[in-house]
Amino acid sequence: MTNATRADIRDVPLAVSSTGAGRDRDTPAASGRFKRLYNIAEIRKAALSALPRPVFDFADGAAEDERTLRRNVEAFADVALLPRPLNGAASCDLSVELFGRRLAMPLVIAPTGLAGLFWPDGERESARAASVSGIAYCASHGSVCTLEEIAGTSVEPRWMQVFVYKDRGFTREMVERADAARYSALVLTIDNQLLGNRERDLRNGFTIPPRFGLAGTLSTATKVPWLLRMRTALPRLTFGNYVRPGHANDIASLAGRLAELLDPGLSWAEVDWLRKIWRGPFIIKGVLHPDEAREAVQRGADGIVVSNHGGRQLDGSPASFDALPAILEAVSGRIPVLMDGGVRRGSDVVKAVASGAAACLIGRPQLWALAVGGMAGVQHMLGIFRREIDRTMGLMGVSRTSDLGPHCLVPSRFGRR
Ligand code: FNR
Repeated sequence: MTNATRADIRDVPLAVSSTGAGRDRDTPAASGRFKRLYNIAEIRKAALSALPRPVFDFADGAAEDERTLRRNVEAFADVALLPRPLNGAASCDLSVELFGRRLAMPLVIAPTGLAGLFWPDGERESARAASVSGIAYCASHGSVCTLEEIAGTSVEPRWMQVFVYKDRGFTREMVERADAARYSALVLTIDNQLLGNRERDLRNGFTIPPRFGLAGTLSTATKVPWLLRMRTALPRLTFGNYVRPGHANDIASLAGRLAELLDPGLSWAEVDWLRKIWRGPFIIKGVLHPDEAREAVQRGADGIVVSNHGGRQLDGSPASFDALPAILEAVSGRIPVLMDGGVRRGSDVVKAVASGAAACLIGRPQLWALAVGGMAGVQHMLGIFRREIDRTMGLMGVSRTSDLGPHCLVPSRFGRR
């Protein structure tokens, strides 16, 4: 990020550093309503207090024993950052170029369904926060607002995430709507054609629309601010993109229809077909196997997201950061490789970029931040990432993201017990 854009984000006051220069990388904590939320873990804790337990768990949880979820976070500890302070990084340019657009830092908001359950109009709040922070926003197929409503905010760059449905006509329709609404990139998620086994949701009796069991109802009753905030949004909660005139459009009917629509027989044939009908950048999300990455390049994908859906699908699949090196080798620089899963610190982003990733997508932290403050919460969360990336690079003696590379990393024993 340039110094000029740094000043545009006013969620924290500039602190005076030990050298006397005003440097936001030195700011110890935010002020005002987010005062104590000085890192992503604190935002998660605040979301736990703000949300009914079943809603919190819907975002926080993952599949089965949640091994992949935990490993996503822990994998970053297996690599250490190797600083060269005498390189002198008085200011850092965090920006990256991605699909012809410059992002203020190497972050993208990940597609996350039902963001509107965490804050009224959650998708548009998040999209605006991404835009103000200079990063890209990826809309989910399962947004509460329609993709056209999100596009109506004019935030850019905006990407649209889709699935392949048994009804190819419906798939095409979704893609054409994204094109008409001028989304700049299409993201095909390949790892959700069958729903993962999310046991926290089963335990909590979490359904769509939310109808909580006894424990959930008790937990909800203590979350008065969320209830008040959501009182008009909850009865209207639905999967906006699936609403059809003349059909049952309540969220329960749509959730059932959606599960039936997904095609577990998804193959490269559908990838080829989508590649043909979408003219802009085409990104495949959910790649973990190097052979699949290699083939994605051959089939004309413009980008890959190394992802295990935040551990929500196949428990026991590799952590994204663990899978990244083999995929980067398979792709060998031909297209940008992004990653998501477990990114909770600016230093995680720096490690991913130094390993060769073009950018990281941020999933859960966005939903936690929405729950604590809507757009301002998401802006605050992105401000934390920005300051942490900036500080990490400064401490490492690296002035530009393009100067990050494997020479900045060494294996570490942090993660070993
Ligand atoms: C997701 N994710 C997701 N991915 C996608 O392609 N389409 C979607 O609709 C959703 N929905 C969704 C809902 C919720 C509640 C979560 C937590 C996640 C996965 C998401 O895009 C991303 O891959 C992970 O969230 C990344 O991991 P972290 O950042 O949450 O650890």
